[in-house]
Amino acid sequence: MDSYVGVKRVLQTPGRVIEKTFTLSSGAKLPIVGLGTYRIRGEQLIYNVLDAALAAGYRSIDTATVYENEADIGNALQKLLPKYNLKREDIFITSKLAPFDQGGHRVVKAVSRSLEKLKLDYLDLYLIHWPGVANIDVSDKRNAELRFESWVELEKIHYHGEGTLKSIGVSNYTAQHLEELLDVCDVPPVINQIEFHPHYRQNDNLYKLCEKSNVLLQAYSPLGGSNSAYVLDEHPVNHVADIYQKTSAQVLLRWALQCGYAIIPKSVNPGRIVDNCDLDFTLSKEHFKMISNISYRKKYAWDPLPVM
Ligand SMILES: NC(=O)c1ccc[n+]([C@@H]2O[C@H](COP(=O)([O-])OP(=O)(O)OC[C@H]3O[C@@H](n4cnc5c(N)ncnc54)[C@H](OP(=O)(O)O)[C@@H]3O)[C@@H](O)[C@H]2O)c1
Repeated sequence: MDSYVGVKRVLQTPGRVIEKTFTLSSGAKLPIVGLGTYRIRGEQLIYNVLDAALAAGYRSIDTATVYENEADIGNALQKLLPKYNLKREDIFITSKLAPFDQGGHRVVKAVSRSLEKLKLDYLDLYLIHWPGVANIDVSDKRNAELRFESWVELEKIHYHGEGTLKSIGVSNYTAQHLEELLDVCDVPPVINQIEFHPHYRQNDNLYKLCEKSNVLLQAYSPLGGSNSAYVLDEHPVNHVADIYQKTSAQVLLRWALQCGYAIIPKSVNPGRIVDNCDLDFTLSKEHFKMISNISYRKKYAWDPLPVM
Protein backbone atom coordinates (compact mmCIF):
# COMPACT_ATOMS: atom_id res chain seq x y z
CA MET A 1 0.00 0.00 0.00
CA ASP A 2 2.91 2.36 0.65
CA SER A 3 3.61 2.25 -3.07
CA TYR A 4 0.32 3.96 -4.06
CA VAL A 5 1.16 7.58 -4.82
CA GLY A 6 -2.25 9.13 -5.62
CA VAL A 7 -2.51 12.53 -3.94
CA LYS A 8 0.76 12.16 -2.00
CA ARG A 9 2.70 14.56 -4.25
CA VAL A 10 -0.06 17.15 -4.05
CA LEU A 11 0.12 16.98 -0.25
CA GLN A 12 3.75 18.06 -0.40
CA THR A 13 3.00 21.29 -2.28
CA PRO A 14 2.65 24.47 -0.21
CA GLY A 15 -0.78 25.73 0.84
CA ARG A 16 -3.82 24.60 2.81
CA VAL A 17 -5.06 21.07 2.23
CA ILE A 18 -8.63 22.24 1.62
CA GLU A 19 -7.38 24.35 -1.30
CA LYS A 20 -5.33 21.60 -2.92
CA THR A 21 -6.43 19.91 -6.12
CA PHE A 22 -5.34 16.82 -8.01
CA THR A 23 -5.18 17.03 -11.80
CA LEU A 24 -7.21 14.13 -13.17
CA SER A 25 -6.33 12.37 -16.44
CA SER A 26 -9.06 14.48 -18.11
CA GLY A 27 -7.15 17.63 -17.12
CA ALA A 28 -9.85 18.67 -14.61
CA LYS A 29 -8.75 19.66 -11.11
CA LEU A 30 -10.41 17.69 -8.33
CA PRO A 31 -10.18 19.15 -4.79
CA ILE A 32 -8.53 16.41 -2.71
CA VAL A 33 -11.06 17.02 0.11
CA GLY A 34 -14.74 17.09 -0.79
CA LEU A 35 -18.01 16.94 1.12
CA GLY A 36 -19.93 13.64 1.19
CA THR A 37 -23.72 13.94 1.23
CA TYR A 38 -25.01 10.37 1.59
CA ARG A 39 -28.10 10.30 3.86
CA ILE A 40 -28.28 14.10 4.04
CA ARG A 41 -31.77 14.98 2.93
CA GLY A 42 -34.24 17.83 3.32
CA GLU A 43 -34.07 21.32 1.92
CA GLN A 44 -33.18 23.16 5.12
CA LEU A 45 -30.63 20.60 6.29
CA ILE A 46 -28.89 20.52 2.91
CA TYR A 47 -28.82 24.33 2.86
CA ASN A 48 -27.28 24.48 6.34
CA VAL A 49 -24.71 21.79 5.57
CA LEU A 50 -23.61 23.38 2.28
CA ASP A 51 -23.57 26.81 3.90
CA ALA A 52 -21.20 25.51 6.60
CA ALA A 53 -19.09 23.63 4.04
CA LEU A 54 -18.66 26.53 1.61
CA ALA A 55 -17.84 28.86 4.52
CA ALA A 56 -15.19 26.37 5.70
CA GLY A 57 -13.63 26.26 2.23
CA TYR A 58 -15.01 23.06 0.67
CA ARG A 59 -15.32 23.44 -3.08
CA SER A 60 -16.27 19.88 -3.98
CA ILE A 61 -19.57 18.13 -3.31
CA ASP A 62 -20.27 14.43 -3.83
CA THR A 63 -23.84 13.35 -4.50
CA ALA A 64 -25.63 10.58 -6.43
CA THR A 65 -29.02 9.86 -7.96
CA VAL A 66 -29.74 7.34 -5.22
CA TYR A 67 -29.07 9.86 -2.42
CA GLU A 68 -32.24 11.68 -3.52
CA ASN A 69 -30.78 15.03 -2.54
CA GLU A 70 -29.72 16.43 -5.92
CA ALA A 71 -32.68 18.80 -6.13
CA ASP A 72 -32.06 20.18 -2.64
CA ILE A 73 -28.36 20.59 -3.42
CA GLY A 74 -29.28 22.42 -6.64
CA ASN A 75 -31.60 24.80 -4.77
CA ALA A 76 -29.05 25.43 -2.04
CA LEU A 77 -26.27 26.16 -4.52
CA GLN A 78 -28.41 28.71 -6.33
CA LYS A 79 -28.66 30.70 -3.11
CA LEU A 80 -25.22 29.98 -1.68
CA LEU A 81 -22.92 30.59 -4.63
CA PRO A 82 -23.81 34.32 -4.76
CA LYS A 83 -23.56 34.49 -0.95
CA TYR A 84 -19.93 33.34 -1.15
CA ASN A 85 -19.23 35.23 -4.36
CA LEU A 86 -18.53 31.95 -6.13
CA LYS A 87 -19.05 31.11 -9.78
CA ARG A 88 -20.13 27.72 -11.09
CA GLU A 89 -16.57 26.98 -12.19
CA ASP A 90 -15.31 27.54 -8.65
CA ILE A 91 -17.01 24.37 -7.43
CA PHE A 92 -16.65 20.72 -8.39
CA ILE A 93 -19.82 18.64 -8.43
CA THR A 94 -19.88 14.85 -8.68
CA SER A 95 -22.98 12.74 -9.23
CA LYS A 96 -23.48 9.09 -10.08
CA LEU A 97 -25.43 6.79 -12.34
CA ALA A 98 -27.78 4.64 -10.25
CA PRO A 99 -27.72 0.83 -10.57
CA PHE A 100 -31.30 1.03 -11.93
CA ASP A 101 -30.10 3.31 -14.75
CA GLN A 102 -27.36 0.97 -16.00
CA GLY A 103 -27.43 -0.02 -19.67
CA GLY A 104 -26.99 2.09 -22.80
CA HIS A 105 -30.53 3.30 -23.32
CA ARG A 106 -31.07 4.80 -19.82
CA VAL A 107 -27.89 6.80 -19.42
CA VAL A 108 -28.70 9.93 -21.40
CA LYS A 109 -31.95 10.41 -19.47
CA ALA A 110 -30.25 9.73 -16.14
CA VAL A 111 -27.59 12.38 -16.79
CA SER A 112 -30.25 14.91 -17.90
CA ARG A 113 -32.28 14.20 -14.77
CA SER A 114 -29.26 14.80 -12.51
CA LEU A 115 -28.40 18.03 -14.33
CA GLU A 116 -31.98 19.24 -14.12
CA LYS A 117 -32.28 18.48 -10.41
CA LEU A 118 -28.93 20.06 -9.62
CA LYS A 119 -29.86 23.04 -11.84
CA LEU A 120 -26.51 22.76 -13.60
CA ASP A 121 -25.38 22.90 -17.24
CA TYR A 122 -22.62 20.42 -16.59
CA LEU A 123 -21.25 17.99 -14.03
CA ASP A 124 -17.57 18.06 -13.18
CA LEU A 125 -17.57 14.32 -12.65
CA TYR A 126 -20.08 11.55 -13.23
CA LEU A 127 -19.47 8.02 -11.95
CA ILE A 128 -20.96 4.62 -12.55
CA HIS A 129 -22.02 4.15 -8.93
CA TRP A 130 -21.79 0.38 -8.80
CA PRO A 131 -20.58 -2.35 -11.19
CA GLY A 132 -23.87 -4.23 -10.85
CA VAL A 133 -27.31 -3.63 -12.27
CA ALA A 134 -30.49 -3.35 -10.21
CA ASN A 135 -32.69 -6.46 -10.26
CA ILE A 136 -30.05 -8.63 -11.92
CA ASP A 137 -28.32 -11.31 -9.84
CA VAL A 138 -24.71 -10.47 -9.02
CA SER A 139 -23.54 -13.68 -10.73
CA ASP A 140 -25.27 -12.81 -14.03
CA LYS A 141 -22.95 -11.98 -16.93
CA ARG A 142 -25.31 -9.24 -18.05
CA ASN A 143 -23.87 -7.04 -15.28
CA ALA A 144 -20.62 -6.82 -17.25
CA GLU A 145 -22.39 -6.19 -20.54
CA LEU A 146 -24.71 -3.52 -19.20
CA ARG A 147 -22.09 -1.59 -17.24
CA PHE A 148 -19.94 -1.51 -20.36
CA GLU A 149 -22.92 -0.22 -22.39
CA SER A 150 -23.31 2.50 -19.74
CA TRP A 151 -19.65 3.40 -20.09
CA VAL A 152 -19.87 3.70 -23.87
CA GLU A 153 -22.81 6.11 -23.46
CA LEU A 154 -20.87 8.15 -20.91
CA GLU A 155 -17.93 8.32 -23.31
CA LYS A 156 -20.26 9.67 -26.00
CA ILE A 157 -21.67 12.34 -23.68
CA HIS A 158 -18.17 13.23 -22.52
CA TYR A 159 -16.96 13.56 -26.14
CA HIS A 160 -20.00 15.02 -27.88
CA GLY A 161 -22.32 16.23 -25.14
CA GLU A 162 -21.41 19.92 -25.31
CA GLY A 163 -19.30 19.60 -22.21
CA THR A 164 -22.10 18.31 -19.98
CA LEU A 165 -19.80 15.70 -18.37
CA LYS A 166 -16.32 17.13 -17.86
CA SER A 167 -14.91 13.89 -16.49
CA ILE A 168 -16.22 10.36 -16.13
CA GLY A 169 -15.26 7.67 -13.66
CA VAL A 170 -16.36 4.63 -11.71
CA SER A 171 -17.11 3.63 -8.16
CA ASN A 172 -16.90 0.34 -6.28
CA TYR A 173 -14.92 -1.27 -9.11
CA THR A 174 -12.66 -4.14 -8.09
CA ALA A 175 -9.33 -4.61 -9.86
CA GLN A 176 -11.07 -7.08 -12.17
CA HIS A 177 -13.95 -4.74 -13.09
CA LEU A 178 -11.48 -1.94 -13.71
CA GLU A 179 -9.10 -4.04 -15.77
CA GLU A 180 -11.96 -5.23 -17.98
CA LEU A 181 -12.97 -1.63 -18.61
CA LEU A 182 -9.44 -0.34 -19.18
CA ASP A 183 -8.84 -3.09 -21.75
CA VAL A 184 -11.65 -1.93 -24.02
CA CYS A 185 -12.56 1.69 -23.28
CA ASP A 186 -11.72 4.73 -25.42
CA VAL A 187 -11.84 7.14 -22.48
CA PRO A 188 -10.34 5.72 -19.27
CA PRO A 189 -12.10 6.48 -15.98
CA VAL A 190 -10.45 9.35 -14.09
CA ILE A 191 -11.25 7.98 -10.64
CA ASN A 192 -12.47 4.92 -8.82
CA GLN A 193 -14.40 5.92 -5.68
CA ILE A 194 -14.16 3.10 -3.14
CA GLU A 195 -14.58 2.33 0.54
CA PHE A 196 -11.40 3.02 2.50
CA HIS A 197 -10.59 3.39 6.21
CA PRO A 198 -8.28 1.50 8.59
CA HIS A 199 -10.73 -1.42 8.90
CA TYR A 200 -11.02 -1.81 5.13
CA ARG A 201 -8.11 -1.46 2.69
CA GLN A 202 -8.00 -2.43 -0.93
CA ASN A 203 -5.71 -5.09 -2.37
CA ASP A 204 -2.37 -4.39 -4.01
CA ASN A 205 -3.64 -5.32 -7.49
CA LEU A 206 -6.02 -2.38 -7.42
CA TYR A 207 -3.31 0.06 -6.30
CA LYS A 208 -0.93 -1.12 -8.99
CA LEU A 209 -3.59 -0.95 -11.69
CA CYS A 210 -4.75 2.53 -10.68
CA GLU A 211 -1.18 3.77 -10.47
CA LYS A 212 -0.30 2.38 -13.89
CA SER A 213 -3.50 3.63 -15.52
CA ASN A 214 -3.63 7.07 -13.90
CA VAL A 215 -6.92 6.36 -12.11
CA LEU A 216 -7.16 8.27 -8.84
CA LEU A 217 -8.59 6.46 -5.82
CA GLN A 218 -11.11 8.48 -3.82
CA ALA A 219 -11.98 7.17 -0.36
CA TYR A 220 -15.63 7.00 0.56
CA SER A 221 -16.60 6.32 4.18
CA PRO A 222 -13.12 7.51 5.25
CA LEU A 223 -14.43 7.63 8.84
CA GLY A 224 -16.10 4.23 8.58
CA GLY A 225 -19.47 5.46 7.31
CA SER A 226 -22.45 4.60 9.51
CA ASN A 227 -20.05 2.48 11.60
CA SER A 228 -17.70 5.42 12.16
CA ALA A 229 -17.91 4.96 15.94
CA TYR A 230 -15.97 1.65 15.66
CA VAL A 231 -13.16 3.21 13.62
CA LEU A 232 -13.06 6.46 15.60
CA ASP A 233 -12.86 4.47 18.85
CA GLU A 234 -9.74 2.53 17.84
CA HIS A 235 -7.13 3.03 20.54
CA PRO A 236 -4.26 3.95 18.13
CA VAL A 237 -6.47 6.59 16.50
CA ASN A 238 -7.29 8.23 19.84
CA HIS A 239 -3.68 7.93 20.99
CA VAL A 240 -2.34 9.68 17.87
CA ALA A 241 -5.11 12.29 18.09
CA ASP A 242 -3.98 13.13 21.65
CA ILE A 243 -0.36 13.51 20.54
CA TYR A 244 -1.25 15.91 17.70
CA GLN A 245 -4.03 17.66 19.64
CA LYS A 246 -6.42 16.79 16.80
CA THR A 247 -9.73 14.95 16.74
CA SER A 248 -9.81 11.23 15.92
CA ALA A 249 -11.67 12.11 12.71
CA GLN A 250 -8.88 14.45 11.65
CA VAL A 251 -6.31 11.70 12.24
CA LEU A 252 -8.29 9.23 10.10
CA LEU A 253 -8.72 11.76 7.31
CA ARG A 254 -5.10 12.84 7.32
CA TRP A 255 -4.06 9.17 7.31
CA ALA A 256 -6.23 8.50 4.23
CA LEU A 257 -4.65 11.47 2.43
CA GLN A 258 -1.16 10.27 3.36
CA CYS A 259 -2.15 6.85 1.97
CA GLY A 260 -2.65 8.67 -1.35
CA TYR A 261 -6.45 8.89 -1.42
CA ALA A 262 -8.68 11.87 -2.13
CA ILE A 263 -11.40 12.00 0.58
CA ILE A 264 -15.08 12.95 0.86
CA PRO A 265 -16.06 12.89 4.56
CA LYS A 266 -19.72 13.50 5.38
CA SER A 267 -21.14 15.36 8.36
CA VAL A 268 -24.30 17.31 9.13
CA ASN A 269 -22.62 18.97 12.10
CA PRO A 270 -21.15 22.43 11.30
CA GLY A 271 -18.30 22.04 13.83
CA ARG A 272 -17.31 18.66 12.39
CA ILE A 273 -17.58 20.00 8.84
CA VAL A 274 -14.95 22.59 9.79
CA ASP A 275 -12.75 20.05 11.62
CA ASN A 276 -12.91 17.55 8.77
CA CYS A 277 -11.26 19.94 6.34
CA ASP A 278 -8.70 21.32 8.79
CA LEU A 279 -6.00 18.84 7.89
CA ASP A 280 -2.85 20.95 7.77
CA PHE A 281 -0.65 18.69 9.82
CA THR A 282 1.53 15.71 8.96
CA LEU A 283 1.50 12.34 10.65
CA SER A 284 5.07 11.21 11.24
CA LYS A 285 6.12 7.85 9.79
CA GLU A 286 5.78 6.34 13.27
CA HIS A 287 2.26 7.65 13.85
CA PHE A 288 1.15 6.93 10.29
CA LYS A 289 2.28 3.35 10.86
CA MET A 290 0.34 3.09 14.13
CA ILE A 291 -2.87 3.69 12.18
CA SER A 292 -1.78 1.45 9.28
CA ASN A 293 -1.07 -1.34 11.77
CA ILE A 294 -4.66 -1.53 13.03
CA SER A 295 -5.36 -5.15 12.25
CA TYR A 296 -9.15 -5.43 12.56
CA ARG A 297 -10.76 -5.96 9.14
CA LYS A 298 -14.37 -5.27 8.26
CA LYS A 299 -16.13 -4.01 5.19
CA TYR A 300 -19.02 -1.79 6.20
CA ALA A 301 -20.47 -0.77 2.83
CA TRP A 302 -21.75 -2.90 -0.07
CA ASP A 303 -19.28 -5.46 -1.45
CA PRO A 304 -18.68 -5.46 -5.22
CA LEU A 305 -16.46 -8.58 -5.18
CA PRO A 306 -19.22 -11.06 -6.19
CA VAL A 307 -20.51 -8.82 -9.02
CA MET A 308 -19.73 -10.41 -12.40
N1 LIG B 1 -19.78 5.39 -4.05
C1 LIG B 1 -20.36 4.78 -3.03
O1 LIG B 1 -20.85 3.64 -3.13
C2 LIG B 1 -20.42 5.47 -1.71
C3 LIG B 1 -20.80 4.75 -0.56
C4 LIG B 1 -20.83 5.44 0.66
C5 LIG B 1 -20.49 6.77 0.71
N2 LIG B 1 -20.16 7.46 -0.43
C6 LIG B 1 -19.82 8.91 -0.39
O2 LIG B 1 -18.78 9.10 0.58
C7 LIG B 1 -19.24 10.04 1.56
C8 LIG B 1 -18.61 9.74 2.90
O3 LIG B 1 -18.92 8.45 3.35
P1 LIG B 1 -20.02 8.14 4.47
O4 LIG B 1 -21.06 9.20 4.51
O5 LIG B 1 -20.45 6.73 4.26
O6 LIG B 1 -19.23 8.12 5.82
P2 LIG B 1 -18.05 8.93 6.58
O7 LIG B 1 -17.83 10.24 5.97
O8 LIG B 1 -16.95 7.97 6.73
O9 LIG B 1 -18.69 9.07 8.02
C9 LIG B 1 -19.86 9.75 8.27
C10 LIG B 1 -20.24 9.48 9.71
O10 LIG B 1 -19.24 9.99 10.59
C11 LIG B 1 -19.79 11.01 11.42
N3 LIG B 1 -18.79 12.07 11.51
C12 LIG B 1 -18.42 12.93 10.54
N4 LIG B 1 -17.46 13.76 10.97
C13 LIG B 1 -17.20 13.41 12.26
C14 LIG B 1 -16.30 13.92 13.22
N5 LIG B 1 -15.48 14.93 12.96
N6 LIG B 1 -16.30 13.32 14.44
C15 LIG B 1 -17.13 12.28 14.71
N7 LIG B 1 -18.00 11.77 13.83
C16 LIG B 1 -18.04 12.33 12.59
C17 LIG B 1 -21.05 11.45 10.74
O11 LIG B 1 -22.02 11.89 11.66
P3 LIG B 1 -22.64 13.40 11.59
O12 LIG B 1 -23.17 13.58 10.21
O13 LIG B 1 -23.69 13.35 12.64
O14 LIG B 1 -21.49 14.31 11.91
C18 LIG B 1 -21.52 10.16 10.06
O15 LIG B 1 -22.20 9.34 11.00
C19 LIG B 1 -20.75 9.85 1.52
O16 LIG B 1 -21.45 10.87 2.19
C20 LIG B 1 -20.99 9.79 0.04
O17 LIG B 1 -20.93 11.06 -0.55
C21 LIG B 1 -20.09 6.82 -1.62
